[in-house]
Amino acid sequence: MEISPHDLAALRPPVLEAIREVGAFIRSEYSEFDPKDIEVKGRNDLVSYVDRTAEALLMEGLNRLTPGCGFINEESGSQGIDQPAVWIIDPLDGTTNFIHGIPVFSISVALQLEGAVVLGCVYDVPRDEMYEALRGGGARRNEIPLSVSKTPGLPDALIAYGAMHSSFLNLEQFLQLLGAFMRQSRGLRRLGSAALDLAYTAAGIFDGFFESQLNPWDVAAGSLIVAEAGGLVTDYYGGSDFIFGRSIIAGNPGVHAAMRELIGSFVDPECS
Ligand code: IPD
Ligand code: CA
Ligand code: CA
Repeated sequence: MEISPHDLAALRPPVLEAIREVGAFIRSEYSEFDPKDIEVKGRNDLVSYVDRTAEALLMEGLNRLTPGCGFINEESGSQGIDQPAVWIIDPLDGTTNFIHGIPVFSISVALQLEGAVVLGCVYDVPRDEMYEALRGGGARRNEIPLSVSKTPGLPDALIAYGAMHSSFLNLEQFLQLLGAFMRQSRGLRRLGSAALDLAYTAAGIFDGFFESQLNPWDVAAGSLIVAEAGGLVTDYYGGSDFIFGRSIIAGNPGVHAAMRELIGSFVDPECS
C-alpha cells in the first residue's frame, strides 16, 4: 500500500484512537490480572494473554486502516516486511511491571515507510497519555507540543537506563558504566519500559536514556518522538543503527554528547 504525506496526516487520528482502545483493554485487565496467567518465554522474559490479545487487536485495527501493510510484532513475529509500509508493534512494553502490579507500561506503535519511521506513538496506558510524532511534524503529548530538556550537561541530568535481563555476559562492565553515570549525573532511573523512557526523554522529564540489547519494537516509535522533540538519537557508536542495531542513546543534544563520550569509554563494540 502506498501512503502519501497527506494520507499519513489523515491516518494519525484513527491510529491514535485504535491504540487508545487497546490501552483501555490493557487497563481493564491490569486491575484483575491473575499471576497464574503468566507464561515464560525465556530467562526473565514473561508474557500473558494480555500482550497477545493486545497485539491481535492492534493488528486488526491497523490492518483495517492500511490493508496489505507489513508487520514487525513482538509476540506473533513478522509478516509482509517487503511491503513499502510496515507497522512495528510492541503491544505491552513493560510486561514485568504489568505482571508485578507496577503501573508503568505502554503500547508502542511505529509506521515505517520505505525503511524510515514516519509515525511513532507511545501510549502511557495507566496515565492515559499519548506521546506521538509525525516525521517533520513535531512531537506531542495529548496534542500539546513537546521538547527535550535544556539541561546543558551530565552534572544536572537525570538519566534513564535499561539493563540486560537474560544474558549477563557483560555485567561487570555494565555495573562500572552505571557507577560512572552515578558519579557524574544527578541520578539514574530504571522504569522498565524502554518506549516510555524515550517518551519521557522527549518530554524533558529525563535528560537522556541509554540501553542495549533492545528490539525494534522497543525503540522505533520512541526514537522518532525524541528526534521530533529536538533530541538526538544514535546507537552506542554515534551511528544511526539504533532501531535494528540493539543499542541506543537518546537525549537533548548536550547531554547526548556527554553520554556518548562516557559510554564510548566503556563499551566494547564487539560485545554490547
Ligand atoms: C522490555 C522493556 C524494558 C527493557 C527490556 C525490554 P517488554 O520490554 O522495554 O524496559 O529493559 O529490555 O525487553 O518485554 O516489557 O516488552
Ligand atoms: Ca518491549
Ligand atoms: Ca512487550
